[in-house]
This record gives sequence, C-alpha cells and structure tokens, in this order.
Amino acid sequence: MSDKKTEIIRILKEFEGKSISGEELGEALGISRTMVWKYIKSLQNDGYPITSSQKVGYKLDHVPDILYPENIMSGLENRLIGRSVIYYDEVDSTNNAAKRIARESDDGTVVISRIQKSGRGRLGRPWISPDGGIWLSIIIKPKISLAHASRLTILAGITVTKIMRDMGVDAVIKWPNDVLINKKKVCGILTELNAEIEQIEYVIVGIGINANNEIGDFTEELRKNSTTLKQETGKPVNRVELVQDILSEFEQQYIRFNTQPFSSILDEWIELSDTLGKHVTIMTPTRMISGKAIAITENGSLIVRKADGISEEVIGGRCMY
Ligand code: BTN
Repeated sequence: MSDKKTEIIRILKEFEGKSISGEELGEALGISRTMVWKYIKSLQNDGYPITSSQKVGYKLDHVPDILYPENIMSGLENRLIGRSVIYYDEVDSTNNAAKRIARESDDGTVVISRIQKSGRGRLGRPWISPDGGIWLSIIIKPKISLAHASRLTILAGITVTKIMRDMGVDAVIKWPNDVLINKKKVCGILTELNAEIEQIEYVIVGIGINANNEIGDFTEELRKNSTTLKQETGKPVNRVELVQDILSEFEQQYIRFNTQPFSSILDEWIELSDTLGKHVTIMTPTRMISGKAIAITENGSLIVRKADGISEEVIGGRCMY
C-alpha cells in the first residue's frame, strides 16, 4: 500500500469514527483534495468502510479485518518483530517470499498473505491456504549456532498455544510442533533457514493458522484431523488482533530466548504439550518408532522409550497417538 494511503488510514483511525474534511486531510498529507479523493476511492476498493459526505468529509466506520501492514502495525509496540510487514493478496508461499527478500530485509520482518497458492507444510506436504486463514512468515537473524535453530520453532509453538489459550480455547502442542484443539490441528509451523558453515544467515519461521477459513476447503482427510478457530469458538476471530497478539508474544519469547537459559522455555513447552507420557508412533522418512514419549531435548528432539526398554532420540517425523 502506498505511503499516502497508509497515512490516510492512520489519520482516519485517530479520528475514531469522527469525520475529517478532504481539505484537512490534504493539508496533513501535502496533497490536493482531488488526490485525497482518489486515495479514498482506492481505499474503499481495498475494503475499507470509509463513508464520505460533501458536508463533513470522510469517516472510517471501523477497521476491517484485513491483514494489511498498517492494520497490523498500528498499535503494535514491538521493537523487532513486525516493525516491517509485507503483505500479499496472493503468493506462492510466504516462506518462499520471505526467503526471496530475507537478505536485504530487516531482522523481524513479517511476510503475510491473504492466500497461498503453494503453501508448504512439513515433510514436503502441501499446506492448503485459502482466504480467512493466517499465513505468515517471520524473518529472524539470530546469533545462534546452527544446532540451536530448531529452538525457534519451539518458541513459535509456545507463542501460538499461549495466545489461543488466552482466547479461551484449550490448545495443546503436539510434538514436534502442531497446535491442536480437541485433538484436531489448528496450526502448523514450518521453520527453514539459510546458513553457511556454522553461521546462520537467517531463519524463516512460517506459521499457518486455520482461523476463519472454511472447513469445506480442506480435503476429506484433512477435514477429519483439522479444525479452525472459527469452528472452535463458534464465531469468526479478529485476525488483525490475533496476528498482533502473536507477534507481541513471539517478541517476548524471543527476548527470553536471548536472555535466559533455554531450560525455562522448555519447561513452558512441556506444560503446554500433551505429548509427554503418551504412547506414540513416529514415522520418519526412513523408519517407524513406537514407544512412550518420555522427554524432550534442548533441541526439540523427542526421547521415546521402546517396548524393549531402549530409549531413542527422534529429531522429527509424523507423530501419532
Ligand atoms: C505443518 O506441516 O504443520 C507446517 C505448516 C506450515 C504452514 C505455514 S503457512 C505460512 C508459511 N508458508 C508456508 O508455505 N508454510 C508456512
């Protein structure tokens, strides 16, 4: 969105439902009334409910639930995460888009899209991403070793689960990093990185949340195992507020990550997860392991005690219980 349009929205929001004349808006922006009118028309086309009257001017009825940068950034007090937000109406995958711009982007940049045409899940699976969901990627440039990069996925899982619990739903983390409500998946996380030798250049934390998207858009198999926040809460959620909450919480978690021992974060993961103690079967690309999930390591691997009493460390895979 152009800077002028962002400015107009910011000013209209400040007026909190009161009207402002085209002349005043024009003066504030250093543009003519005709230009103001053109920008207003374009904003109305974008879905902003702006009413205009010749007598009193322009008024924003309410902030629409569209994930535009100016909506997400207004009121977000973060110092790092979401200081820059890039929006697409449609994109192949926000993780791909984030990778394309990561090098020249600021640490904490967020890429978000209304729709993903080729959304990607873990283990090479597609991630269905229609309108109504939240599909976003956070670009992070952490000063950590390659071996610790998976910890950022853990932070993201904690973040989403906590925010959903604050909304009043009973969300849990299923290892490695799915968020479930009533045993059905509501959020998936895909972390990817670029590194040279041991040095991480950037990490992309991709978060996909089934928010207000329709269950009917899922394949039959997904329908059995997936849910949406709308379905669980009985009403559409405000996605702008939810994204703001997630970005704020992720920043808090990231500050903790940089300042405190990782064990405190892991303790929180254990509290929010329902995996430990359960009998699990994990499919990896090369093998299948069954047993009791007894612990999680500092890098997010699961320790599984098999029937023969031998414990194995599993880095990732598809977990069933
Ligand atoms: C999973 O398989 O559980 C991970 C799903 C991750 C989906 C998100 S949506 C935003 C980002 N862009 C992608 O293509 N994937 C991630």
